[in-house]
Amino acid sequence: MRTLPKVELHIHLEGTLEPELIFELAARNGIQLPYDLDELRRRYEFTDLQSFLDLYYANLSVVLTEQDFADLTRAYLRRARDAGVRHVELFLDPQAHTSRGVPLATCINGVSEVLKNSESEFGISSSLIATFLRDRPAEEALAVLAELIEMDAPLVGVGLDSAEVGHPPADFVDVFDLARATGLQCVAHAGEEGPPEYVWQALELLGVSRVDHGIRSLEDPKLVDYLVSNGIPLTVCPLSNVRLRVVDTIADHPLPEMLERGLCVTINSDDPAYFGGYVDDNYTAVQDAFNLSADQLATLARNAVSASFLPADRRAPLIAEIEEWRAARPM
Ligand code: HPA
Ligand code: ZN
Repeated sequence: MRTLPKVELHIHLEGTLEPELIFELAARNGIQLPYDLDELRRRYEFTDLQSFLDLYYANLSVVLTEQDFADLTRAYLRRARDAGVRHVELFLDPQAHTSRGVPLATCINGVSEVLKNSESEFGISSSLIATFLRDRPAEEALAVLAELIEMDAPLVGVGLDSAEVGHPPADFVDVFDLARATGLQCVAHAGEEGPPEYVWQALELLGVSRVDHGIRSLEDPKLVDYLVSNGIPLTVCPLSNVRLRVVDTIADHPLPEMLERGLCVTINSDDPAYFGGYVDDNYTAVQDAFNLSADQLATLARNAVSASFLPADRRAPLIAEIEEWRAARPM
């Protein structure tokens, strides 16, 4: 699925940190890791979201300088280009870095200096979404957002991620109120491990215009109706859902049901260095599992264009590229 032009809306920069780059950055920063590459690889077996997050945060100990953030961003864009990505709205977890003493400006500057040239260097337009960690205090998220606004960080929006159950969207109303008042777009992870109630809260209390994951929405028919009639997109991450045991196997994924019910579903990779594949691999996995037609694949790609925060004049050329891809396939 390399050549279908894609828009990626649910991808954590930190989740693109490949094991090889961990060792490269450790060596450059004079950090002695207490394991080798093979031992590290053996840790990539997860039982749930938290077991993944423990490794995800631990691995970040080697990412320290502006150069590190820039290299991480560039490595992602290089791989994304091969995957056919034409536009990305990239998540960054500032608190995963500030909480271990890395200044906010270090990560924002390192990432944004690369993103600002992503179109000319990689043929990928890009924007940045700062995601707040819901398992840390809301006051901390509010302070980080205030600092991001103060430094005029080049953000298109804010999001909410990390350990979901026990950390409802309702706790973050003040953060999202400030974001909206500043003109930022709002998204949130909800209904990954958490109940449909968290999706309702994200919509009604945080004012999100897009829901990350949201697959447990299917448990609440009224919620499905609401999402369909309001055209609220869901950023679905099939390989992530398998690796974090949200579903047993790819064949058990509710993607076909979601499409049948008329939900605006998009396909994304979440944390590709951890879950066995980038966005092209996610498209291929669902194509193989559900025998999707070229029309269905084009619909998924088009959904992502319409779910993006791109202005109308940037969407039309992407839709045209997808149509061109579709026209080149047999009916
Ligand atoms: N869920 C919640 N938080 C995350 C994820 C995820 O899939 N990836 C990185 N942070
Ligand atoms: Zn995610």
